[in-house]
Amino acid sequence: MTYLANSAPTNGIRKRVTAPWVRAQKNLCKLSMLTAYDFAFATLLDRAGIDMLLVGDSLGPVIYGTPNTLSVTLDDILRHTRTVSSAATRALVIADLPFLSYQVSLEQAVTNAGRCLKEAGAHAVKLEGGVEQTETIRAIVRAGIPVVAHIGLTPQSVHAVGGYRTYGKTEAERDLLLADAKAVAEAGAFCVVLECVQEATATEITKAIAVPTIGIGSGSNCDGQVLVTQDLVGLTVGHVPKFVNPVADVAGIISAAAQSFVARMNDGEESKPVVKGENVISH
Ligand code: KIV
Repeated sequence: MTYLANSAPTNGIRKRVTAPWVRAQKNLCKLSMLTAYDFAFATLLDRAGIDMLLVGDSLGPVIYGTPNTLSVTLDDILRHTRTVSSAATRALVIADLPFLSYQVSLEQAVTNAGRCLKEAGAHAVKLEGGVEQTETIRAIVRAGIPVVAHIGLTPQSVHAVGGYRTYGKTEAERDLLLADAKAVAEAGAFCVVLECVQEATATEITKAIAVPTIGIGSGSNCDGQVLVTQDLVGLTVGHVPKFVNPVADVAGIISAAAQSFVARMNDGEESKPVVKGENVISH
């Protein structure tokens, strides 16, 4: 069954989005990617025509309230990817390979990437890193698994790089990022996430590589954009990155609804007995 809303913008593709289709959109249309971790969000985002749903390791901070992404496990990603895959009828579902699920050995990387497809229904995996990850990307792609690369700010290396900041501001960093982008694209990644890359550098990378760039906090010239959905809809509890322009205040709606529920309870309304035979919706 497809839930795609009739009015949804679909970039000209109503059937399932695939990795080759995404790759072929370079210079043709702007691609959309949002994070999804559960059934309700995945269903709504899919119906709205989002091209790619990322089960990101931002799962840790966003859903489980962890200080960073390092504690997210492969089992966490598999569990949430399973539910997102069961909801998405059009969007390409991407499972984020968590910290230490692909860095230890090529064999482990291919096995773990494969589990995301076999056990959780993902269509692709994402991993962080540039030049140093090219052998891993090659091995996973050789196994028939589409790979999204992720360079710039790579939160799994937060302790090694010394914090969250913008990358590519200096000439030396710009050259390193260009080399990273070219290397991961040549290794077979079908698109590349650029996180917190200075706009001019992101623009240069976008012109230099043959696969789409998907920016987050990297300016508007990338081939597509990705955001954490909770940031976009105003549902983030805690820090929201400066580059996000929330389009709604869902946190405000939830708080108001909860307060009105408390008020109704205080008025004794919610404790009224349900009338027999009344149409009651229950979980
Ligand atoms: O985990 C995540 O949500 C991500 C995006 C921010 C790109 O990696």
